[in-house]
Amino acid sequence: MLETAKRLLTPSKRSDVPSFMAMDVMAAAAALEDKGARIIRMEVGQPAAPAPGPALRAAQAALGGRIAYTETLGIPSLRRRIARHYAETYGLALDPARVVVTTGSSGGFILAFLSLFEPGDRVALANPGYPPYRHILSALGCEPVLIETSAATRWALSAKALIAAHRAKPIQGVVIASPANPTGTMMEADALARLIAVAEAKGIRVISDEIYHGLDYAFAAETAAKLSERVVVINSFSKYFCMTGWRVGWMVVPDNFVRPIERLQGNLAISVPALSQVAAEAAFDGRDEMEAVKHGYEENRRILVEGLPKVGLDKFLPVDGAFYLYADIRRFSDDSLDFAKRLLNEAGVAATPGMDFDPIDGKHFLRFCYAGSAAEMHEAVQRIGNWLTMAP
Ligand SMILES: Cc1ncc(COP(=O)(O)O)c(C=O)c1O
Repeated sequence: MLETAKRLLTPSKRSDVPSFMAMDVMAAAAALEDKGARIIRMEVGQPAAPAPGPALRAAQAALGGRIAYTETLGIPSLRRRIARHYAETYGLALDPARVVVTTGSSGGFILAFLSLFEPGDRVALANPGYPPYRHILSALGCEPVLIETSAATRWALSAKALIAAHRAKPIQGVVIASPANPTGTMMEADALARLIAVAEAKGIRVISDEIYHGLDYAFAAETAAKLSERVVVINSFSKYFCMTGWRVGWMVVPDNFVRPIERLQGNLAISVPALSQVAAEAAFDGRDEMEAVKHGYEENRRILVEGLPKVGLDKFLPVDGAFYLYADIRRFSDDSLDFAKRLLNEAGVAATPGMDFDPIDGKHFLRFCYAGSAAEMHEAVQRIGNWLTMAP
């Protein structure tokens, strides 16, 4: 009887995924702010700016009417507008029928993994990498296969490393991201093309997370959709478009996957929130505002790249894109969790421990998000400097 009652209250093994530590640091930072502390928030990867004006105005206008379910694949005019974005940005003629609107890129990952993989399939990921890739894969019964990256390949997954892993034990899929989180590094277009070609030649399905496109400073990011029609591209309105809380994103999928994904999304969510879709379509008209926000990030990047080495944090990965700086802290600590906690409590700067992104070497790294204001960046450098000279 006792056993039966216990069974009724035991969550499934697949739900036992690790928490996303950045969200835990966010909660700790918010708790300190509640007590009156002033914290510089560099832990969660989200723009400080609101959605662009045209998006806000379109949402306000839509609120006057009926907010109903939409087509499962997304409002047709939004799908067409996204397809046009590929022509404008990458010179790619894309059939809107291949565009699927999702609940953020997070919703896109669930649809991609469900439609591409069977339980037990092995999916390669760059290490360090965005933690939910591995956690979602595990929850769906797939096996994340972490592949180490190094300076030699700009901290990106290389074709050589992928093939070596595939030879050791076959791999069915690979997730690539450029610009990447947490490193902020990018792949050159030829490295991306090589990786896709090699993967596809071996029957390895490619998913390209392009959520940080638009936020590229070192060189222009190339879309994988231009390099192969078999790749699944995932993108979002969260970052460049400053719409994290609206929970709207999109996928570009091969023709064969449109209907299966429509059936999955229809069952899982019916449709993506209508108001967010209306706002997302209008957001494309707010490009000037979004470019101004991007220029702000460029200035923040300059402040950190110049300022952090002066206060002792002089080793970090190339700061190519997104809004992250991944700093090597091994001069000061080999426990990034403890380091991040002390930095938050003693210096009032919230950053995310590398352990979140890299179970192997993350103890030596800290991720700073520079999506705040320039004044905050200056203050963060100053606070970190003062703290590092005083901290035991
Ligand atoms: C690399 C990467 N992919 C996907 C996401 C998920 O974003 P969203 O679901 O808001 O589109 C994030 C969020 O930080 C991210 O950094």
